[in-house]
Amino acid sequence: MKSLILYWSAGGNTKKVADTIETVLVDKSIPVDKVKIEENLEVELCDYDLVFMGAPSYRWIPPLPVRKFIGNTMDRYRGGARPIGAPRKPGKFGVVFCTFGGIHTGIKEGYVAGKYMAQFFEHVGFLVLDEWYTPGKFHGWEEGSKRGKMGDISDRPNLNDLKIVANSTREILQGLDFEIKIAKR
Ligand SMILES: Cc1cc2nc3c(=O)[nH]c(=O)nc-3n(C[C@H](O)[C@H](O)[C@H](O)COP(=O)(O)O)c2cc1C
Repeated sequence: MKSLILYWSAGGNTKKVADTIETVLVDKSIPVDKVKIEENLEVELCDYDLVFMGAPSYRWIPPLPVRKFIGNTMDRYRGGARPIGAPRKPGKFGVVFCTFGGIHTGIKEGYVAGKYMAQFFEHVGFLVLDEWYTPGKFHGWEEGSKRGKMGDISDRPNLNDLKIVANSTREILQGLDFEIKIAKR
């Protein structure tokens, strides 16, 4: 199994989650590439079996470089001639991770960004195994990080948040291992 972590991060919160996922994959001896998203980045997703994609929520959606990367990748997908429907590619799996401040409406501010990335996976035929939402300090907005809807998030993602990410990564790998064993029967 080959894995890829695609992420974008301006302040480091989402990178912490990406780094945690990478640590678990390395620990389990799973080959992994970790790549920061840029709008002109070209990656062949199908070279990988398991792709993690993460971004912060910016005004409820992924930041512009991530949206542009998604748009460019979709334009290139099958030479731009997309089939109607989104046929699944067997054995190709995606996991979404999103960090968010949730200052005004809480975790719902992360959901739209996460679902946006999940739709990308679905459109290219990758089965979305999970979506992870991790609170992340709003850089440059002290008051918002201390007194928002999520409470004081000024130290998030903290060690406990990252422990949850690590455990969730292990669970994904266990689940896939099980699926592969069943498929080989
Ligand atoms: C320009 C900007 C816009 C943001 N907009 C939102 C938002 O609409 N909703 C939200 O929950 N968090 C918002 N945030 C907070 C970020 O999603 C959060 O701090 C995230 O963890 C930052 O990730 P990073 O450190 O990897 O860049 C915003 C942050 C910035 C800098």
